[in-house]
Amino acid sequence: MKLSAFGEKFAGDSGIVELMDDLGNALSENPDMIFMGGGNPGRLPAVEQVFRENMESILEDPQQRHSLFGIYQSPQGEKEFRKEVAAFLNKQFGWSLSCQNIAVSNGSQSAFFMLYNMLAGEMSDDTRRAIHLPLSPEYLGYRDVGLTSSFFTATRPKIERLEDHLFKYHIDFSNLNVDHNTAAMCVSRPTNPTGNVLTDNEISMLDELARANDIPLIIDGAYGLPFPNIIFTEVTPFWNDNTILVLSLSKLGLPGARTGIVVASEEVIQAFTRANAVISLSCGTMGPALAHQMFRNDQILSLSRDHILPFYRERSTQVVDWFRQEMGDLPYQIHKPEGAIFLWVWFEGLPIGSQEMYQRLKQRGVLVVPGHNFFVGIEDEWAHKNQCLRVSYAQDADTVRQGVRIIAEEARKAYDLE
Ligand SMILES: Cc1ncc(COP(=O)(O)O)c(C=O)c1O
Repeated sequence: MKLSAFGEKFAGDSGIVELMDDLGNALSENPDMIFMGGGNPGRLPAVEQVFRENMESILEDPQQRHSLFGIYQSPQGEKEFRKEVAAFLNKQFGWSLSCQNIAVSNGSQSAFFMLYNMLAGEMSDDTRRAIHLPLSPEYLGYRDVGLTSSFFTATRPKIERLEDHLFKYHIDFSNLNVDHNTAAMCVSRPTNPTGNVLTDNEISMLDELARANDIPLIIDGAYGLPFPNIIFTEVTPFWNDNTILVLSLSKLGLPGARTGIVVASEEVIQAFTRANAVISLSCGTMGPALAHQMFRNDQILSLSRDHILPFYRERSTQVVDWFRQEMGDLPYQIHKPEGAIFLWVWFEGLPIGSQEMYQRLKQRGVLVVPGHNFFVGIEDEWAHKNQCLRVSYAQDADTVRQGVRIIAEEARKAYDLE
């Protein structure tokens, strides 16, 4: 088969595809693998129960059932749902959104594909623009979405060392350079993979920088505010006309519904809707149908606050304790867990590199994600890039406990301290 440049890029061997294949193969070869690698949300019975009841009531009503299965929705998403989302955000945060500020996508991943490529890459005047990540490590799902090469630039973070084997990344504003080649800035808040939550001050400085350079600030709220609200620090949700906030129903427990929600100026939403019509024709109906009622009666907030947030907050504290017990005085550091569903473990001075560590753990039946994949946009050599692992703590507690023990055993061997 002769592939086009597009085909070579998207059907060829990209790092993320290889990694996902490897994770998938490892799981199918050994179903007992301890899976601390993916982004699947944890299973929360009370939350699953609500989804089930909502689905049953839709299926019982012929009209709702027909609109779930039998109708193409607009590529912007069903109007009543968009109105409900806008009203919910206005009520919660005092924003002044209308349904024209909201678009629905088939998962937030595909929203990023469209938004990034609408803004960055080759421009019609033959210049090129890049998406800038003010703090990398960032979500590895961004890495290969650009239609052109050199699609991302990034700023290395400042590292603050904290007590008890913790550290925290901060945006290094003194080295954050935005210029006429920058199309937009993007941050995930909380950040996948680190669990970092950018402070209100960092967000407002980014907003000022974005507005001063006349570029949008994209905030990826897949784990964030107002839902699923997996944030353990006190921070304020942020949006203004220059912000593109991308939300998702996935981490609430609905990754199969493939529903992203874009909140942006009318101009951005119009452009996005046209692109979505070309690429997807229409929006999936399941996520909006399940969530409609939850926006209307604020249940999306109470589920996040009463079930989802406490589950991950308690689990993260527990897993950090397990690491402390198992790792003893090994030279490891954990990024202060401030949100999301992962721990980001830094093995300082690791003699074997994160890829080898990943392979050895896989041999031992534990799947994690090697950290070098997440340094999107940072091309230069930096030893730190090869010394980190992302460890999901969303699976059941016994499994995670066992995984931590094996990670510590392999770390001890890697440092040759056995
Ligand atoms: C930070 C972040 N953004 C976006 C996504 C994409 O999520 P979805 O396409 O399921 O909405 C993920 C998925 O893991 C993520 O971790």
